[in-house]
Amino acid sequence: MKFSIAVLPGDGIGPEVIGEAVKVMEAVGRRFGHQFDTEEGRVGGNAIDEFGTPLPEATEALISDTDAVLFGAVGGPKWDDPRAPTRPEDGILAMRKMLGLYGNVRPVKVYPQLINSSPVKPEILKGVDMIILRELTGGLYFAKPKRRWDTSRGRRGVDTLKYTEQEIERIVRMAFEMAMGRRKRVTSVDKANVLETGRLWREIATEVGQDYPEVELEHVLVDAAAMQLIKNPAHYDVIVAENTFGDILTDEASVLSGSMGMLPSASMAGLPKKGRRGKRAISLYEPIHGSAPDIAGQGIANPIGTILSMAMLLRYSLTLEEEAVAVERSVEGALAEGYRTPDIAGDGGEVVKTPEMGDIIAGGI
Ligand code: IPM
Ligand code: MG
Repeated sequence: MKFSIAVLPGDGIGPEVIGEAVKVMEAVGRRFGHQFDTEEGRVGGNAIDEFGTPLPEATEALISDTDAVLFGAVGGPKWDDPRAPTRPEDGILAMRKMLGLYGNVRPVKVYPQLINSSPVKPEILKGVDMIILRELTGGLYFAKPKRRWDTSRGRRGVDTLKYTEQEIERIVRMAFEMAMGRRKRVTSVDKANVLETGRLWREIATEVGQDYPEVELEHVLVDAAAMQLIKNPAHYDVIVAENTFGDILTDEASVLSGSMGMLPSASMAGLPKKGRRGKRAISLYEPIHGSAPDIAGQGIANPIGTILSMAMLLRYSLTLEEEAVAVERSVEGALAEGYRTPDIAGDGGEVVKTPEMGDIIAGGI
């Protein structure tokens, strides 16, 4: 089969890790007889430098006419001026909004080979296999008013936490749908003891839960969830949270897997509908880590989170399940053979550079 993929490397280590994911995707194409037509687009700080905007029109056109988007990371100190009119991060936020990507799926798995790379005790990590489903197009990130201004009594800033019933309903429903194919437990995270939006969230989660009697629903306050995620992570199956809480909890959860560099993510406008290939909404796949400017250009970034994101792209956007599994197995194989990038080398193994890790995983397809 033939597919078109928009590839957006971005800034910092983005191009390095994306290069390896594309390498592995090409290996998948050769082994399974597919043609992946990739086209690169600019996004983030490099796009600001060249076009004055983090999401140029050409990139908008590219991502609206493709089977899926593979994205690296954006940002860096060069564009960090708090008073700048636009930031690299605005590029990714604009893409999420433009494609209506309200559901961000972040699977957290602990690879047995990396169990000693995490600062958390091995006995606590056994059996960790959860999905954190983060709401991605609402809440503090997008709601208005959102601005800063000067007053006679000093500077002020405002962000708004706002959610509609529809926004909560669709993300919570997505969580239940995912749980039905898994261990049938949904943990809904909120701050219902303080926030109005939290109480609305809890109410709607309970209502939606009535449509899924087989699924156990539990409500946890976000502060308690942050603690339980480290104390008893194996308990969780599908965690669903609003945008900001999900952002924070997923960075925390990445510690369980040994490194931020390991975790993939998929951002989608709902779960793909079976058997409707071609009409499917466009989804975006990216590692959960950022552009890591401190290590950019050294060839030491971990490409696995991006490679696993590409596997999710194969599974969800292209319905190439066998191919996705081949990528995931090859990653496991590389880890089992002891190959490590520096971020996961805490327990020894053979330290390899970014391109070598890509070669090894591509070679295992
Ligand atoms: C993430 C990142 C982004 C976010 C930034 C880069 C805007 O932290 O994808 O988790 O906050 O959503
Ligand atoms: Mg984040």
